[in-house]
Amino acid sequence: MQKLLGSVSDAVVGQQGAQESLSDTCFSEKGEYAVDLTRFKRLNLFRRPTPLEELARLQQAIGCKPRIFLKRDDLTDSGLGGNKNRKLDFIMADAVAQGSDVIITLGGVQSNHCRQTLAVATKLGLECHLILQGEKPAVRQGNLLYDTLLGANIHFVPADADMYEVAADLIAELEKKGRKPYLIPVGGSTPLGALGYVESTLEVIEQGKEMGVTFGHAFLATGSAGTQGGAEAAAREKCPSMKIHGVSVSREAEPVKKSVANMANQVYALLGIDKTVSPEDIIVYDQYYGEKYAVPTEAGNDAIRLLARTEAIVLDPVYTGKAMSGMIDMLRKGLLDDAEAVLFFHTGGYPAIFAYAEYFQE
Ligand SMILES: Cc1ncc(COP(=O)(O)O)c(C=O)c1O
Repeated sequence: MQKLLGSVSDAVVGQQGAQESLSDTCFSEKGEYAVDLTRFKRLNLFRRPTPLEELARLQQAIGCKPRIFLKRDDLTDSGLGGNKNRKLDFIMADAVAQGSDVIITLGGVQSNHCRQTLAVATKLGLECHLILQGEKPAVRQGNLLYDTLLGANIHFVPADADMYEVAADLIAELEKKGRKPYLIPVGGSTPLGALGYVESTLEVIEQGKEMGVTFGHAFLATGSAGTQGGAEAAAREKCPSMKIHGVSVSREAEPVKKSVANMANQVYALLGIDKTVSPEDIIVYDQYYGEKYAVPTEAGNDAIRLLARTEAIVLDPVYTGKAMSGMIDMLRKGLLDDAEAVLFFHTGGYPAIFAYAEYFQE
């Protein structure tokens, strides 16, 4: 049984044992894919592997040929779950190893990343500051309610402010007081954080093998690109026939492809793998995010209702609902029929739905 988050001293020992079974199964094909994650410190925040579920009722409702599977990274059991826990498992271990005593991170008012970072900091007994961009709402809901319950130091900044400037001022102020702040960038998308999605992807490939299915396509929501960057790096190394499809939630496809390729290349460098990817190799769609980031789309909300009513699983209107609407659209058009099975990474985010209640009153 894998050890969950313990004390700070537990957190920095590397947890060799917990990795062994994964290395045996995922990385051992004649040593060819000897990706060694054991040399990175980690916290073991959640039980791995997360479940892989078949969505037979959703497949039936869509009427598509490929089988549909869901990687339940919404069930990473820290801070109400989500993809950021996979990144934070590595990033926060680094913060602890550096002797940091204050964690600072940034995002939107309903940031899932900020919520999960705060949860880990709280468990480690570290002070946490969240720089949240957007209006302070009259009533706190969703992720912001969670942040407030946990007693976060919240700094609301206007939509046009430079969050990193605000963070720099805060860091200077804390350092003057003799503190050791650690800044985690938006979405935790650093190469170290993206290792979390190297691991999630290797996990799911292995789980597919155990269930006797090969995924031809895998979909995920892409924002700051750490999730897709890590998944790309792993899939290309271990299962090149599985195409990773990123559904952009905020930007046009071209800059996102560049960010993803850049992240995958930094991951390869970190892992000592002599390989590069170029933006032309990356698949990103920009037709599913609608008007702009965090504004729900009709198709995204329909996808949320469809998954809820067929599988009793909840997505969110900012990331996973929009990404699912992209996958459903392509399945309905028969564009993924070359695959026996398609995969969707449920990257979490469902607590945000409570802040969007007015969209789901019927
Ligand atoms: C629920 C959810 N899914 C997907 C993403 C996108 O991940 P990334 O920022 O690594 O592209 C995020 C990022 O905040 C998220 O909260």
